[in-house]
Amino acid sequence: MTFMKGIWKSMLPGCYKGEYPSRKPKRVVSTKPICSQRISVSDLSFPSTTFSEDLSMSLAGTNLHVFTLAELKLITQHFSSSNFLGEGGFGPVHKGFIDDKLRHGLKPQPVAVKLLDLDGSQGHKEWLTEVVFLGQLRHPHLVKLIGYCCEEDHRLLVYEYLPRGSLENQLFRRFSASLPWSTRMKIAVGAAKGLTFLHEAEKQVIYRDFKASNILLDSDYNAKLSDFGLAKDGPEGDDTHVSTRVMGTQGYAAPEYVMTGHLTAMSDVYSFGVVLLELLTGRRSVDKSKVPREQNLVEWARPMLNDPRKLGRIMDPKLEGQYSEMGSRKAAALAYQCLSHRPRNRPTMSAVVKVLDPLQDFDDIPIGPFVYTVPNESNNNNNNSGVESSFSPSPSPNKEKKSGHHHHHRHRRPHPLAKSPKSPRPHSHLNSENERHHTNRRSSSSESDSPPSHT
Ligand SMILES: Nc1ncnc2c1ncn2[C@@H]1O[C@H](COP(=O)(O)OP(=O)(O)OP(=O)(O)O)[C@@H](O)[C@H]1O
Ligand SMILES: [Mg+2]
Repeated sequence: MTFMKGIWKSMLPGCYKGEYPSRKPKRVVSTKPICSQRISVSDLSFPSTTFSEDLSMSLAGTNLHVFTLAELKLITQHFSSSNFLGEGGFGPVHKGFIDDKLRHGLKPQPVAVKLLDLDGSQGHKEWLTEVVFLGQLRHPHLVKLIGYCCEEDHRLLVYEYLPRGSLENQLFRRFSASLPWSTRMKIAVGAAKGLTFLHEAEKQVIYRDFKASNILLDSDYNAKLSDFGLAKDGPEGDDTHVSTRVMGTQGYAAPEYVMTGHLTAMSDVYSFGVVLLELLTGRRSVDKSKVPREQNLVEWARPMLNDPRKLGRIMDPKLEGQYSEMGSRKAAALAYQCLSHRPRNRPTMSAVVKVLDPLQDFDDIPIGPFVYTVPNESNNNNNNSGVESSFSPSPSPNKEKKSGHHHHHRHRRPHPLAKSPKSPRPHSHLNSENERHHTNRRSSSSESDSPPSHT
């Protein structure tokens, strides 16, 4: 931890105002102007000069807002539990509302504020990676980073608020309504477009942590990729891959990457195949509550993906047969290709988009059974008889109305802002209770991004 802090200071002295008396005016030492080429994390973390760096100046062209902790406390009502949205490896996420008085030029809007838990499995490096990547990448299928806060030990991120939360919550939450088939395809296409954008960028980005919990949904189920803490620049020049420490999430990470540490865009394609399989089957990539041979989704489903007679056995029972037969076959065959053991046999993400795009509109979905809708209070108010039997077909995908976003509460640790910043950091949470099975989520600046010695 001490070593890590030393590096943080050289990376972001602006975040250590208390310990670094201001000397000269800040100088920007990034050699790559943001307008012509994207700045990499390495441009900031390993400066070739002795000049101190200032992130906010290096990213000046990105329109990111640099918030104070006091401002973020204000907009989240002191990170109140009523604003709590959820918690992952980085730390808790709270809803906040920016009103027109907070900042000149910042439109009033709801936001999600993510706070780094210093005792958690992630650290400053992931925070910085997120700011540097998401600060510079803009696309309809990437979550919008509005700004960040870096004060003393505190690291926060401020995003646009996405009212339907994560795909993980929508797909697997026990009491959630089932996502209709065409909505699932819409989500798959949106996420695939996000990955295509990253892979085809002038300077390629490998996302490295594609999974259901990192796909956020707006009110129309437009998918947006979030969490760029593990993202990497793709190989350059004649290199075919990036050699890196194995990180990601068990059940989603490509086997060749886990085995060798060789990372390519095709590792993301594999992870996409896993999520596509989750959308088809309604099962999690790893589910320890199942019998052993069904615990790993890919291993269990793969043999049935190319067999139309067997495919029905693995389709999500929550769909109640309300899916396109032809669409499901095409999607399953695509998942099979994405999950190929050989990376070169996997399709590119743009090829994936071409196959999936038409599947949103397939109209061979059987007519749904009639479903009895229990009248709610507003029905009662409108109807003096008090009981209204309303019979309606299964919800059509794009008109479906849900009763807001039910937040997924995990086991909560004490709130990071309530803890002493000096509290020791326990070791990684491999196979922690919250169903995260990160291959290696704990990261610190002291860990080099070298290939693994073994996996
Ligand atoms: N921009 C956002 N708008 C709305 N809800 C959000 C937003 N960002 C995150 N959330 C919610 O906060 C929760 C935690 O998100 P977070 O990305 O920190 O963790 P995770 O993806 O669940 O886990 P992991 O650490 O493995 O990525 C999610 O359940 C998600 O629903
Ligand atoms: Mg996440």
